[in-house]
Amino acid sequence: MYSEKVMEHFENPRNVGEIENASGVGTVGNAKCGDIMRIYLDIDDNGMIQDCKFKTFGCGAAVATSSMATELVKGKSIQDAMKVTNKAVMEALDGLPPVKVHCSLLAEEAIHAALWDYAEKHGIKIEGLEKPKSDIHEGEEEKEEY
Ligand code: FES
Repeated sequence: MYSEKVMEHFENPRNVGEIENASGVGTVGNAKCGDIMRIYLDIDDNGMIQDCKFKTFGCGAAVATSSMATELVKGKSIQDAMKVTNKAVMEALDGLPPVKVHCSLLAEEAIHAALWDYAEKHGIKIEGLEKPKSDIHEGEEEKEEY
């Protein structure tokens, strides 16, 4: 059911933890499954993501997607981090079963929520970033094409 990469990231998740005085923190959840994901970003003065950590209270796929998402945004510029979509995370994990697609959406939204928090704290606008939703609903998932 799960790819080897998903299993590997689930068993050895990267970047677990929190960042004290993080530049941005984003928390999102899915009311239906009850899973919650929080992402911390450490962004330097040049807008580069120096560090990224996560805490996920959720299913195995949510842990694996958080782990991969943090790996993908680390070392990137804010604009490049915006390209780390749930699709990119899923591809990096060699796919997810259809019922688990929403778990990867949580990862994308948690990154966006952390970037939003950063932008608000710094009074800046990040191109293409919309105010994140704190709850990722089923109806919105169905609009995604996979
Ligand atoms: Fe909801 Fe995985 S089952 S995040």
